[in-house]
Amino acid sequence: MITRSRFIAALGLAGLLVTSVGCTDSLNAGPLVYVDNEALTHELKGKANLAGKPALQAKVRAALARLYGDSPNQIRVPEGSGFPRGGLTLANHRQIGEGESARIEPIQALLPNGSPDPAHRQAGGFALYRRNCLHCHGVSGAGDGPTATFLFPRPRDFRKGVYKFTSTPSGAKPHRDDLTRSIRDGLLGTSMPAFDALMSPSEIEQVVDYVMFLSMRGETELALIEEGSISDEKDADALGDDIVKEIATGVFEKWKSAQSQVMNPSTPRTASDRASVLRGRDLYLGRTKEKLECAGCHGALAKGDGPSFVPVDVFNMVVFGGDPSTRQERVDALDEKLRTLWNQKPDDWGNPLRPTNLNRGVFKGGRRPIDLFWRIAKGINGAQMPAHYPTLNEAQIWDLVNFVLALEHDPDLLASVPPAPAPRLAESGSTR
Ligand code: HEC
Ligand code: HEC
Repeated sequence: MITRSRFIAALGLAGLLVTSVGCTDSLNAGPLVYVDNEALTHELKGKANLAGKPALQAKVRAALARLYGDSPNQIRVPEGSGFPRGGLTLANHRQIGEGESARIEPIQALLPNGSPDPAHRQAGGFALYRRNCLHCHGVSGAGDGPTATFLFPRPRDFRKGVYKFTSTPSGAKPHRDDLTRSIRDGLLGTSMPAFDALMSPSEIEQVVDYVMFLSMRGETELALIEEGSISDEKDADALGDDIVKEIATGVFEKWKSAQSQVMNPSTPRTASDRASVLRGRDLYLGRTKEKLECAGCHGALAKGDGPSFVPVDVFNMVVFGGDPSTRQERVDALDEKLRTLWNQKPDDWGNPLRPTNLNRGVFKGGRRPIDLFWRIAKGINGAQMPAHYPTLNEAQIWDLVNFVLALEHDPDLLASVPPAPAPRLAESGSTR
């Protein structure tokens, strides 16, 4: 027996309702429901929330359903969201028209690269996500799939719309290609797999769209909760249509504008000669006038053990030294200094964070020089690694890239560092 699930995508422009029915593979395990953001119903310390405001909660749920559809099986593509091909990549069937006159047709034929054969090639972003990603990233993209509890780092919660490995300015949304790269190549050194052997480029495109869809939905939810938290529960106009539209448009615009903001350095990479590597080392050690703090986080030997973070053994004890659900007890048992340090250094999703050991040549966001250029220039969103452009110019960043890439092959680079030069006396005559 074939179970049928529905996808709805509304193409805003023509006011056309598009639905998809199908997904007849064996993974169709019944209805899947979005999970509310915790802040919708719970009192969260220091965070906007709608606890105790049932009318506003209902408005948020209704607005989300209107914009994005009721469930993952009924996708609506909100007007103005800017998905390529109007979001036809998200599902595998669409509905044209509504009510009695609704007509369902397969999307397969409409996609480019649509070879007639392997049906799953046009499964649509949601079906691909359900098969490959959901067990880690969760139905709503909250990073809370059944596998997630056991992983460090945790799978990304897409609902904040914050992505680490981007080519766009610090704090901006990722470019599509950034997401494509992370999914195709995986994030080395984490449990995020590389999917290039499992999915065709067209399938990766479909799932990228679905990640963006879940992000936009989650960001809209969060923004509505924030707006609701400063609104009066009894105000009939609170979270009205205009406000919802303005909030959703704000979310879409950030995604759209990032697509033209890739930061391409105008200075070509400096040749990786000894001089450049040593200039990079001086920058790393904070021995230049810019007084960089790389070593404070990554450590004097770049082993990921700088004094700004708790020592590695303490970190390992807390994160890996027992049941993940009792982690807080292990934090509470730390002495005060360590506890304070621990509490200062979560990532933006509230998870434990560790600076990278730079001696291994293993970089989550890729080890091409340009990948490292982007990491150092713009920092890593959500992970406390700061942006260094424009504090540093592009040539200095290339020196740092050369230094970081050299470390793996030359472990003595830092171990053999000569002591810092003794402070010089100010020249006579200088009074400042
Ligand atoms: C085994 C668990 C697992 C599976 C399966 C998985 N991921 Fe991930 N994913 C992760 C982890 C862990 C991270 C975060 C790593 C980190 O924060 O350093 C991540 C991060 C990401 C990111 C964020 C990259 C960034 O720049 O911040 C994206 C996008 C992503 N995954 C998409 C997907 C998609 C799409 C799929 C399915 C095709 C998928 N993931 C399957 C574990 C998984
Ligand atoms: C305030 C702390 C801090 C400072 C300062 C800092 N970093 Fe980082 N850096 C981090 C953290 C934390 C990570 C790990 C992020 C993650 O795994 O998600 C990281 C990751 C990295 C990575 C790995 C990127 C990848 O793809 O895995 C590189 C390379 C790096 N930092 C280089 C530097 C350099 C060079 C400097 C100085 C110019 C520097 N960092 C300054 C905290 C810092």
